[in-house]
Amino acid sequence: MRLKIRLIRGIRCKKSCEAKFSDMDSREKKIDSLIDGFRSYLDQLRGEEVEYVISYGKKPEEKKVVGEKKVKKVKKMVEHLPEATLDRLKKLEEEVGRCLRCGLGKTRNKAVFGEGEIKRGVMFIGEGPGANEDIQGRPFVGRAGKLLDKILASIGLKRKDVFITNIIKCRPPGNRDPKPDEVIACWPYLEEQIELLKPRVIVTLGSPASKTLLETSQGISRLRGRIHDYQGIPLIPTYHPAYLLRTYTLENRKKVWEDMKLLKNFLEGEVG
Ligand code: URA
Repeated sequence: MRLKIRLIRGIRCKKSCEAKFSDMDSREKKIDSLIDGFRSYLDQLRGEEVEYVISYGKKPEEKKVVGEKKVKKVKKMVEHLPEATLDRLKKLEEEVGRCLRCGLGKTRNKAVFGEGEIKRGVMFIGEGPGANEDIQGRPFVGRAGKLLDKILASIGLKRKDVFITNIIKCRPPGNRDPKPDEVIACWPYLEEQIELLKPRVIVTLGSPASKTLLETSQGISRLRGRIHDYQGIPLIPTYHPAYLLRTYTLENRKKVWEDMKLLKNFLEGEVG
């Protein structure tokens, strides 16, 4: 027997059934109509002696060459840096990708090295990857990341204008706080990133990042609002966007805005 197989992407109903949708109110009627449309399409296929319909949702993705992508990623963020620095950054990113210095190496999906541009000299440092970051291998891509984008936009910066990373590069299971031994194990990576990228200014997001860089036990509420110093680099601590999402009060938003104004003024050469 000869088989006719047709490959379809999604099922679209015909014009007549789309027209019916516009003057129907209820969702159920729309669904019934869609099913009717689909049935008649199948009848039509049967009439054409098509025996199988294979449906697929997305265009199959082209296979990516992982190594090449990594090189491009590092190049994109720091194109203007010397070749030797670029090479070292690339190696460091690879090291982070296969790191097993603490237990998080066994449970992570993807390590999150960090990304962005350092041309303007701004480095944002958060706490550690969450679930979305662990899947994508990129920092701040979840809800907190969307808010971070807005915070940056409030002073005319885009995500791609700054370099964003975290004090730990792998996700703690269940989004728990990083343990001290995990922060210690991961510290040399961040230390070297700072050495290589040479930011003009660092913004730490939340208590863990601020305390780690400033080697203090003071919490973020006491640290924020002024410019500190990390090894000769001005450091501005502010609330973590995830904290801001949990306590979205006018008072807290004002405080973050004040901290961002400090950053803006610093970049414009007015303070620091
Ligand atoms: N929170 C962080 O501290 N870092 C991320 O990358 C995402 C959420």
